[in-house]
Amino acid sequence: MKRIIVTGGCGFIGSNFIRFFLQQEPNLKIVNVDSLTYAGNLENLKDLETNPRLTFARLDITQLDALEPLFREPLDSVIHFAAESHVDRSILDSGPFIRTNVQGTQILLDLAKKASVRKFVHVSTDEVYGSLGASGFFTETTPLAPNSPYSASKAASDMLVRSYFHTFGFPGVITRCSNNYGPYQFPEKIIPLFISNLLEDLQVPVYGDGLQIRDWIHVTDHCSGVYAAWKSGIAGEVYNFGGRCELTNMELTTTLLRLLDKPKSLIKYVQDRLGHDRRYAIDCAKAETELGWKPIVSFETGIADTIRWYQENWEWVSRVRSGAYREYYQQQYGSRL
Ligand code: NAD
Ligand code: DAU
Repeated sequence: MKRIIVTGGCGFIGSNFIRFFLQQEPNLKIVNVDSLTYAGNLENLKDLETNPRLTFARLDITQLDALEPLFREPLDSVIHFAAESHVDRSILDSGPFIRTNVQGTQILLDLAKKASVRKFVHVSTDEVYGSLGASGFFTETTPLAPNSPYSASKAASDMLVRSYFHTFGFPGVITRCSNNYGPYQFPEKIIPLFISNLLEDLQVPVYGDGLQIRDWIHVTDHCSGVYAAWKSGIAGEVYNFGGRCELTNMELTTTLLRLLDKPKSLIKYVQDRLGHDRRYAIDCAKAETELGWKPIVSFETGIADTIRWYQENWEWVSRVRSGAYREYYQQQYGSRL
């Protein structure tokens, strides 16, 4: 049975992707490589813990020697999600972003090159393109102009993937997606943070004037895009994914208030994020034409489902907020350490 490595599979998008991928591909097995940072939660894959086609390796992608044995066995491909992903944290301390996102990607590229993988999908972000004015869209040829330490580290990793393709003919494919939402998202990002706070009648902190625009896509549409890039993306190419759903943060916030039947008094305007990007909007025509992909979840349906998921999985939210989720690994693997 063919074997692929997925990195960052205990995070938000990685865990949704593993669930999606195992359903799509009944004859493939996955090794999930994740170091379980604060954002990694093994409970995100609890429903799959007895699946014989999924194994977990608690490894840090910056540790070459520890990773190397995984690349000695036959390996079809690598799908690389692992990253430090939160902009606000990168503003407080960019060190972990450079180590994981840049150095970690370089180490994976070297190991994957040596293992002669068939494909390496590098999951990147629209934030590498910088910020847009009121009009226009990011295309795959928009020059990179990252504005935060997070997006700069992702842009650097994209450039490494590009250089390995150019120099070595390495089969790297880059994907750049807009803002995701859906189940299992860590409640530091705006949608899960605001839903969790509102469910407890707590205030929600809107940065600055709240008129920044993001292009929202449901995580399953991002997963189907990464899957399409893995299946039929061409080495050396970049594919943008977006939800064609631009909302200001205020529009998003008032939608959440309305759906949860909460008062506007729960909005709290706070100091703006440093260097805050004003607008992201993706042109995903290339992925639609060349990969046959398209986003299918409407925001209306997706956000209602997401709210319901957080309501029905309040235990998950509580364990994340209290830190109890960090004990789960010990319970599952502790005796084998
Ligand atoms: P996340 O923060 O929820 O998860 C990241 C995962 O990577 C965690 O499980 C963490 O434990 C793991 N990880 C971090 N450092 C590691 C290391 N050194 N070694 C091994 N594992 C490590 O992130 P996410 O939101 O799921 O994003 C996944 C990927 O998608 C990232 O590369 C991100 O840049 C990209 N992306 C995210 C979005 C979004 O809206 N969230 C949009 C576009 C692209
Ligand atoms: O565009 C893709 C990117 O989307 C991904 O690459 C990142 O990994 C992901 O974190 C996300 O980045 P953003 O910075 O856009 O997401 P975040 O949820 O942090 O913020 C969304 C918007 O909401 C942004 O304009 C800042 C604002 N915001 C955020 C938080 C957490 C608030 O107003 N209040 C908040 O408390």
